[in-house]
Amino acid sequence: MNQNDRREIQKPAVTRRDFFKTAAVSAGAMAVAGLAVKVEAAEAAGPAAAPAAAAGAPAAAAPGGKTLPEVMKAAREKLYPKCRVCPECDGQACSGEVPGMGGIGTGKAFRNNLEALASYGLAMKTFHDVKKPDTSITLFGEKLSMPILSAITGGVTYNMGLKGKVTEEEYMEGVIGGCIAAGTLGFAADGIEDPVTTYATRLAVIKKFGGKGLAQVKPRAQVDIIERMHMVEASGAKAIFIDIDSAGRAARCKPPQIVEPKTPAQLRELVKATKLPFVIKGVMTPEEAQLAVDVGAAGIVVSNHGGRVLDHTPGTAKVLPAIAKAVKGRTLVFADGGVRYGSDVLKLLALGANAVLVGRPVLRGSVGGGAEGVKLVLEKMRSELVDAMVLTGTASVKKVSRSILA
Ligand SMILES: Cc1cc2nc3c(=O)[nH]c(=O)nc-3n(C[C@H](O)[C@H](O)[C@H](O)COP(=O)(O)O)c2cc1C
Repeated sequence: MNQNDRREIQKPAVTRRDFFKTAAVSAGAMAVAGLAVKVEAAEAAGPAAAPAAAAGAPAAAAPGGKTLPEVMKAAREKLYPKCRVCPECDGQACSGEVPGMGGIGTGKAFRNNLEALASYGLAMKTFHDVKKPDTSITLFGEKLSMPILSAITGGVTYNMGLKGKVTEEEYMEGVIGGCIAAGTLGFAADGIEDPVTTYATRLAVIKKFGGKGLAQVKPRAQVDIIERMHMVEASGAKAIFIDIDSAGRAARCKPPQIVEPKTPAQLRELVKATKLPFVIKGVMTPEEAQLAVDVGAAGIVVSNHGGRVLDHTPGTAKVLPAIAKAVKGRTLVFADGGVRYGSDVLKLLALGANAVLVGRPVLRGSVGGGAEGVKLVLEKMRSELVDAMVLTGTASVKKVSRSILA
């Protein structure tokens, strides 16, 4: 065998990324088939197999009759090629695709979220009497069925490529309606490329659902944020989040809009400018978490924006423990990034979060099945959370011991 032959054998015929990009249609079919296998397996196991069933696990299909595999198939048909709806949503196939659905640059920050979560195991404990764990929490005065919220996602045109297929309003109705149906809350986003009229459209959906939702603003000029805060208050939304980590995305703003980093004094001004709880999203260090407490923030979201703003940021599960140690109990601690299963939720709670946000999976649910699709995604996650709680002896999501991590 000569040198060239050897090289030919060593070189992969297609890289993993090429595979997803070129063979995306079959990959999608595999994704759907994979999901179908999982759901069917759960069904075949029957009620006796599932502690979750006793605690209110979801049926395989929502009342409308759709199953999760059907929802994902429909999502893929609409989202491809912006999102390939891969079997594992891990940022491999879509790396660098921002705007789009991926992580920025090399996509490392997106992947770091999943890797950081995967670096923790769960210690199985079964000598106890935890049979029906409590997954409920109270947040901003609302009793929720689970410590899982939709993350903030928007941009049906520039991120999702859905022009002519799904409107902002339809997408939002899926997110907000599906979250309410699952007993939790969803977000209205303030997209970097959106005019204020698009924001108004999204907030109108929250208003339509009786104010049962949360809203986000970009770190725009103070006066523009305050204008939007008044719109949020009028919608009845329960809290305002600012994704301060969008500060470096000025090039994508529609002039004359701007985004900018904020000084503690500016943040304090914003906290005072609204009667709603004000939460700062995109906190990745204990120092800034402490500053958020100092300026009076009602909460922080430990987030690297799903890996979409700064390449090479660490996974959130890695930085969360030190941040929670610094501020938990004095402000609410949310976390997001790479949450795909109920076990991921439990890990983040054990690492110090009060609640978690889920981005891309909920997005797919809304595009593929509207409110019904979102409900299915969230209820599957809650069901997995219940299973993981039983098998780690965790009675309540309000008190999750770090000792369940292995
Ligand atoms: C298509 C898309 C749009 C997003 N838009 C926003 C946004 O407008 N504001 C924001 O704070 N975060 C936004 N995010 C980030 C999410 O809120 C969240 O931090 C991230 O998606 C969590 O990671 P996950 O998707 O892996 O669950 C967006 C994410 C995606 C995928």
